Amino acid sequence: MAERLFFALWPGEALQRTLYELGRAVAPPGGKPMAAQNLHITLAFLGTIDDDKRNCMEKSAAAIRLPPFELRLDCAGYWPRPQVVWLGCREVPQPLAALAGQLNTAMAACGLTPESRPYSPHLTVLRKARQGPRQLDMDTVHWPVGDFVLVQSLTLPEGAQYQVVRRWPLAGQL
Ligand code: 2AM
Repeated sequence: MAERLFFALWPGEALQRTLYELGRAVAPPGGKPMAAQNLHITLAFLGTIDDDKRNCMEKSAAAIRLPPFELRLDCAGYWPRPQVVWLGCREVPQPLAALAGQLNTAMAACGLTPESRPYSPHLTVLRKARQGPRQLDMDTVHWPVGDFVLVQSLTLPEGAQYQVVRRWPLAGQL
């Protein structure tokens, strides 16, 4: 069965609430706020793929050996074309760049089209945004990242709903 899937960093409940409130504070008026339970940082977007490709990607994910790391979310930004306001980090931790890079490499090996643009980690807080955030600087949120997840995206009448379907620990070395 084909499913729409992506790999992501998924915040725990307390962090989710903090990020949601921060997102509301920086978001300009209008647009469509992301629901707290949907907040995440995409590592690799797979699109709608069949079971063989999903199994191939899950095997690759299970073989990743990278250390846990701390992500410091310390800025907000706006991309006018996709019309999203996001929270991001001025510095991308090395294990995060490596994680996204290895998943992207796995995509090519599994017969998927990898992302050609440089990895730009961001946590979308507002869609259909007509303007940028109220402020670009913000108090740093420290996110200790100990695992990564595979997420299924469901399109429901009330909007997209994301479900974590698998989780892998970060327990290796750079
Ligand atoms: P976004 O937040 O910047 O829109 C699920 O759609 C997740 O995958 C979102 O976080 C989305 O990023 C990301 N994504 C990356 N590439 C995508 C694509 N081509 N289509 C849809 N979502 C994509």
